Amino acid sequence: MGEQDVRKRAAREQGTAQQDAREQATEVTVTIPTAADMREFGVRLAGLLRAGDLLVLTGDLGAGKTTLTQGLGEGLKVRGPITSPTFVIARVHPSLAGGPGLVHVDAYRLGGFAELDDLDLDASLAESVTVVEWGEGLAEGLADERLEMIISRAADDSTEERVVRLSGVGDRWADLQDHIIR
Ligand SMILES: Nc1ncnc2c1ncn2[C@@H]1O[C@H](COP(=O)(O)OP(=O)(O)OP(=O)(O)O)[C@@H](O)[C@H]1O
Ligand SMILES: [Mg+2]
Repeated sequence: MGEQDVRKRAAREQGTAQQDAREQATEVTVTIPTAADMREFGVRLAGLLRAGDLLVLTGDLGAGKTTLTQGLGEGLKVRGPITSPTFVIARVHPSLAGGPGLVHVDAYRLGGFAELDDLDLDASLAESVTVVEWGEGLAEGLADERLEMIISRAADDSTEERVVRLSGVGDRWADLQDHIIR
């Protein structure tokens, strides 16, 4: 094979690799202008969820994790209210519509995986939608497949805008991009 052929083949293979990476990518970024929009985004996202799903929410204090979870609860039609837990670390919101319940966890005060493990979330994971705020670095141990979401404020702090980066881990989320309406 001539040098040119080798180069051509390398270029073709690289092209295929790039296409594969695009096909496998499960990253989606959405921009959310207001708190009401964040809630509404949660309602829409809830439409994709089913029992067994784990969502890990990351973002600074006041980023909007609980606001998003309130939308999820509304969309899932679970019993509220969904609040920022002060003393209660995990709260179960049963479905009012015969669907999966919502298990809302605030891992902020947890010291480590042993304490998270003590909550026995495994027991309810399969029949619920489990949402863990401040779960980064902890909640990944609960399930191989999960939807990780990072909420950040926009660079321009004169707005209330938030940027949500969704990253699906595992086959469960392989077609995330097709479902999230940006
Ligand atoms: N675009 C937006 N998306 C979400 N919340 C917004 C937005 N704009 C303003 N807000 C306000 O920001 C606050 C977000 O608070 P929230 O309790 O949801 O944050 P949190 O990430 O759960 O914080 P914590 O780390 O304390 O649990 C609310 O007061 C909400 O009204
Ligand atoms: Mg919160």
